[in-house]
Amino acid sequence: MQFDKEQIKKFNSLETPFYYYNLDLLNKTLEELNKESSKRNYKIHYALKANSNDRILKIISGAGLGADCVSGNEITKAVSAGFKNGEIVFAGVGKSDKEIRTALVNNIACFNVESVQELEVINSIASAQNKIAPLAIRINPNVDANTHHYITTGLEENKFGINTWELPAIIEKLSSLKNINLIGIHFHIGSQITDLNIFKGLCLRVNEIQKWFDERNFQFKSINAGGGLGINYEDPDAELIPDFRSYFDVFHKFLEVRPDQEIHFEIGRAIIGQCGSLISRVLYIKEGMSTNFAILDAGMTELIRPALYQSYHKIENLSNFGFQISDFGFRKYDVVGPICESSDTFGKSILLPETIRGNLIAIRSTGAYGEEMASGYNLREKAKSHFSDKI
Ligand code: LLP
Repeated sequence: MQFDKEQIKKFNSLETPFYYYNLDLLNKTLEELNKESSKRNYKIHYALKANSNDRILKIISGAGLGADCVSGNEITKAVSAGFKNGEIVFAGVGKSDKEIRTALVNNIACFNVESVQELEVINSIASAQNKIAPLAIRINPNVDANTHHYITTGLEENKFGINTWELPAIIEKLSSLKNINLIGIHFHIGSQITDLNIFKGLCLRVNEIQKWFDERNFQFKSINAGGGLGINYEDPDAELIPDFRSYFDVFHKFLEVRPDQEIHFEIGRAIIGQCGSLISRVLYIKEGMSTNFAILDAGMTELIRPALYQSYHKIENLSNFGFQISDFGFRKYDVVGPICESSDTFGKSILLPETIRGNLIAIRSTGAYGEEMASGYNLREKAKSHFSDKI
């Protein structure tokens, strides 16, 4: 349990549901990340798609990270949140002409290009602006991330990146495209990856691909290994700060780096995931056929991950803080939201102390892809965010 009695008292006076962010934990996570990445001189870009809350962005840019964006609006927001233009990278399979223009106007560090056609479009838009666009080819390495199939991105069947069989055609095209400058190669195989061996597999594949380019006389200033480091959803308190050291050690050990080559990462979830909780209140308890329903005032509109990926988030009853389940007798609850969909379920058969109307419930590890993926379905109001230093 991440909360103390004082905090819970304050939570009680706030309108629910709301997103709660532990900024102390965020700062400690960033400290650890900077400590471990600087040992190897790795460059870290924060993936804004995980959480683009204004205060969070200011803290992360203030810690000196670059930004990883996937839309023109994310680029604009990254710049206004203080990320340096020359440290912004831009990925995405469907960059619109307008977004490409935004990226060029903002002089970003690198486009991560995901198709042969995109290469031509960036070249022609850059030419119209009389600019040279710096870019990396996002290569699909065909490495299985062994994560939920919706967040697997590095298999040939996925829409992301350029498949290796297209690389000869790319090389051929390059000489005729005068307004682009190929500076690197980029990979991102998926998200919520908890088995570090998968990153070893990625390194070995990158080594092969780099060799292929070497043989054709292409050397790159940068390799971008993407993001994907997972967090502990089952037991967040056991691992509030992800094991960045072991993660970077894998790359240090297995990635063959050329002299003066920069290694970049795009990390989202591992930075902000454990710093956020969704705080909600029990509206009703209802007896079901074989279970009880605890109906919350938060739903899939505030956190869609369980409905979309059947993902697990730890659920805690804060009103029974300090008591053991055995003090109350425990019961199993299907913890659900108020939205008119059966998929609006946060967890089934969740063991909780006797839970009643009005109890405060924390859904943990919602800092990444929680608030960011909120929707207004059922004309729901956007939930507020509160921060540990101002509560
Ligand atoms: N770089 C690229 C190109 C990406 O597509 C992503 C995430 C990242 C970096 C950051 O990955 P992270 O370090 O956060 O794993 N909504 C899903 C996750 C989608 C991830 C999309 N791409 C979820 O809630 O699990």
